[in-house]
Amino acid sequence: MSYERKAVLFICLGNICRSPTAEAVFKTRSAQAGLNVVCDSAGTGGWHAGDRPDGRAMEAGKRRGYSFHGQTSRKIETSDFETFDFIVAMDQQNLSDLRATCPPRHHDKLSLFLDFAPHTDAREVPDPYYGGEGGFDHVLDLVEIASEGLIVALTEKA
Ligand code: 4NP
Repeated sequence: MSYERKAVLFICLGNICRSPTAEAVFKTRSAQAGLNVVCDSAGTGGWHAGDRPDGRAMEAGKRRGYSFHGQTSRKIETSDFETFDFIVAMDQQNLSDLRATCPPRHHDKLSLFLDFAPHTDAREVPDPYYGGEGGFDHVLDLVEIASEGLIVALTEKA
């Protein structure tokens, strides 16, 4: 039995839409579940470094009661592969970009977020950036399901 605090890092491309949403949802849900975790998010790209999450992502998330307080975009750093226990990608491209830079000894930390939602047909959280408003609610639906699965996985490991 271990009560060590686990650290989870959510990854997408720009760190302004999907992974900030995952961070906001997972923070709320894991606290409600009484889980001893810390989480953060980052992008495989750095174009939006320092920016607040996309306004459409925040509006959709806030409608469901999630907070984006204190979040600003950042690019993943080499030290993240040491710091975090679970590095969770939103889509296959994010995952292959992570595999290309992650030291081999840490590859077992990498996964797709929807690996934690095996009963859902979708395997990727799709990029909503260039789409309509509905894309952000779809992201939230998938992120909520995957968050519950990740919470179960972390609870079983605790
Ligand atoms: P995200 O969405 O990866 O979910 O944050 C994107 C945000 C910005 C861009 C692409 C995807 N962009 O090309 O600027």
